[in-house]
Amino acid sequence: MTDDAAVPPDPDLSKYGPWAVIAGGSEGVGAEFARRLARGGVNVVLVARKPGPLTEVAQACRDLGVEVRVLAVDLTDGGVEAIVEATADVEVGLLVCNAGANTHGMEFLDGDPREFQRVIDLNLTATLALVHHYGRLMRDRQRGGILLVGSLSEYAGSVRHTVYGGVKAFVRIFGEGLWLELRDHGVDVLTLVLGVTRTPAMARAGLNFDAPGMVVSEPADVAREGLAHLAHGPVHVISGNEKSVAWRTGPDRTKVVLTTHKAMTGLLNREQSHNG
Ligand SMILES: NC(=O)c1ccc[n+]([C@@H]2O[C@H](COP(=O)([O-])OP(=O)(O)OC[C@H]3O[C@@H](n4cnc5c(N)ncnc54)[C@H](OP(=O)(O)O)[C@@H]3O)[C@@H](O)[C@H]2O)c1
Repeated sequence: MTDDAAVPPDPDLSKYGPWAVIAGGSEGVGAEFARRLARGGVNVVLVARKPGPLTEVAQACRDLGVEVRVLAVDLTDGGVEAIVEATADVEVGLLVCNAGANTHGMEFLDGDPREFQRVIDLNLTATLALVHHYGRLMRDRQRGGILLVGSLSEYAGSVRHTVYGGVKAFVRIFGEGLWLELRDHGVDVLTLVLGVTRTPAMARAGLNFDAPGMVVSEPADVAREGLAHLAHGPVHVISGNEKSVAWRTGPDRTKVVLTTHKAMTGLLNREQSHNG
C-alpha cells in the first residue's frame, strides 16, 4: 500500500467531468481510474480491445451511479476515430491515456519492425491524436485534465526496451511541454510514472511480483495517487520509485545505463532462481 501521508487528499473530480475517456480502461490501473472517477460522480467512456473485462468494469461503474459508454476497439487500428465519434455529443473533461505496455520485448535487431511500430502507434500516434482532439476542446472551455501514463523505462535505456523506453520518454517530454502550454488555460496535465505494477497484463507476461527486491505497486493505489496529483504536474512518480528515477536521471549515462542494466539483470536472475 502507498503511504497515505505521501498522497494529497482526493481532488474535487467534478472539475474533470462530466465525462472522462479512459484509453485502456478495462483492467489494472485503467479499471481503477474508472472506478475512482465513477465514485466521484464522473461518467466514463471505457476503451479496450477485449469485451469481457470492459463489460465487467462498466457494470461496476454503473452500479456506482454514473453513465458508462463502452468501446471495444484497438487504439492502433481505428480506435481513436471511434472514440471521437462516440463522444461527439458529450463534454469530455478528462482524458486518461493508460494503454501502452510493452508488447514487443525483443532486442531491436531481432524484433519485428511491424510489432515495434504497434508500440509506437499505441503510445505515440494514438496518444497525440487523442490529446490534440480533447485538449483543444478543454482549452476552449478553460477546464479539464490530461493524464498520461509513463514508466521508469523512460529514464534510462535498457535491453529489450529500446522502442518502449524511447516512446515513454517522448510522452513525458511531450507532457511537460503540454503542461506549460495549458497551465494558464485551466487544463491540468500530468505524466504519471509507474514502476512495476500488479496488472493483469504484467501477470500474463509472466512477471513474478514476489521476486525479492522488487518494488510492486497496486493498481488501486496508483490510480488514487494519480488523480490526487493530477493538478500538480507536469510529472509525478509513484511512491516507492523516487530513488530509481533520481538515479536514472544522473549525468554519467554510461554509469547509469550499465548499473541499471546490472540491477535489472540481477532482479531477473533472482526471479528465475526464485521460480526454480
Ligand atoms: N504494469 C506495470 O508494471 C507497468 C510499469 C510501468 C508502466 N506501466 C504503464 O502502465 C500502463 C498500463 O499498463 P498495463 O500493465 O495495465 O498493460 P496494458 O497492456 O497497457 O493494458 C492496459 C489497458 O489498455 C488496454 N489496451 C492495451 N492495448 C490496447 C490497444 N491496442 N487498444 C485498446 N486498448 C488497449 C488493455 O485492454 P485490452 O488488452 O483488452 O485491450 C487494458 O485495459 C501502460 O501505459 C504501461 O506502459 C505499467
